[in-house]
Amino acid sequence: MKQVYILAIESSCDETSVSIIRNGKDEIATVVLTQMDIHATFGGVVPEVASRHHIENITMVIEECLTKASMTMEEIDAIAVTYGPGLIGSLLIGVQAAKTLAYIYQKPLIPVHHIAGHIYANNLVKQMEFPLIALVVSGGHTDLIYMKEDYSFEHIGGTLDDAVGECYDKAARVMNLAYPGGPKVDKLAHTGTDTYHLPIPLDDDSYDFSFSGLKSAVINLSHNEKQRGNEINVANLACSFQNRVVDILTKKTMKALKEYQVSNLIVAGGVAANKGLRERLEALCQEENINLSIPPIQYCTDNAAMIGAAGYFAYQLGRRADLTLNAKASERLN
Ligand code: KG4
Ligand code: ZN
Repeated sequence: MKQVYILAIESSCDETSVSIIRNGKDEIATVVLTQMDIHATFGGVVPEVASRHHIENITMVIEECLTKASMTMEEIDAIAVTYGPGLIGSLLIGVQAAKTLAYIYQKPLIPVHHIAGHIYANNLVKQMEFPLIALVVSGGHTDLIYMKEDYSFEHIGGTLDDAVGECYDKAARVMNLAYPGGPKVDKLAHTGTDTYHLPIPLDDDSYDFSFSGLKSAVINLSHNEKQRGNEINVANLACSFQNRVVDILTKKTMKALKEYQVSNLIVAGGVAANKGLRERLEALCQEENINLSIPPIQYCTDNAAMIGAAGYFAYQLGRRADLTLNAKASERLN
């Protein structure tokens, strides 16, 4: 079998990342340059600042990745790039860099949807088995996707408002935890008890989610307690908040597995790092005989290795873009 080397570029948010992946599964080299510290001072990602840093760094990150892999552009078979969804200014830098490489070195250009990347991060660890349900949870997404086979995506539900990671980060701010607050809330939750009454968002028969009500409930509770002169028990609030989030995510995911008669579950995106979510899903999947796959943390948060993995399958299916490829801030997974 011919070895296929994909050079992949990811710049949809605040990570400038380049990776070289062989046959959609072997990671040859990856470089991730995160801007997290820069944005932390603002309490969240500032789009204009993010795109400026991508411009400054993209060439250096490409060169560093090729050096790390001890490869030249001539040895690369195709260029894969995240074209959406994400921050438009950030995406444009990656897309422009990929188009330039494809033009100069006369390589095929493969457009990759960011969520397809998050899902295919799993293939870097273990070959994905179909049919499967994918739960994608990150700072920008909360989606349930049914995959009958490779690169076939049926979006069965998603958030109607805030993404779950965004909700974590906003709740964390109320708890005086620095950005990104998700991991800090997760850690605190394990030291507290579930004492605060918070609503379960969109607890219905659909596969959709809503997190803005839960976020508002945390803000209102903190505000009211402050006005009454009461101190909030932050660990208990984190625990109560996390339990409600995990309740609804696991309830709808387990329902999807049952209704679609699927025994493979993969979890992807930054919030897949959440210990509470992992523990609950591990227990439920064991009970129901479901094969659960969650990638290690470095593949959960944004990286180009996942784009190279997804890009390989798109390449095999003949998906190509030409030099008119444009970045898309919002785009359906297809
Ligand atoms: O996938 P990602 O790196 O970027 C996006 O595509 O959004 O996800 C980042 C998000 C942030 O909102 C961060 O707070 C959240 O993932 N996150 C967590 C945890 N680790 C990261 N949320 C809850 N618990 C965690 N352990
Ligand atoms: Zn992401």
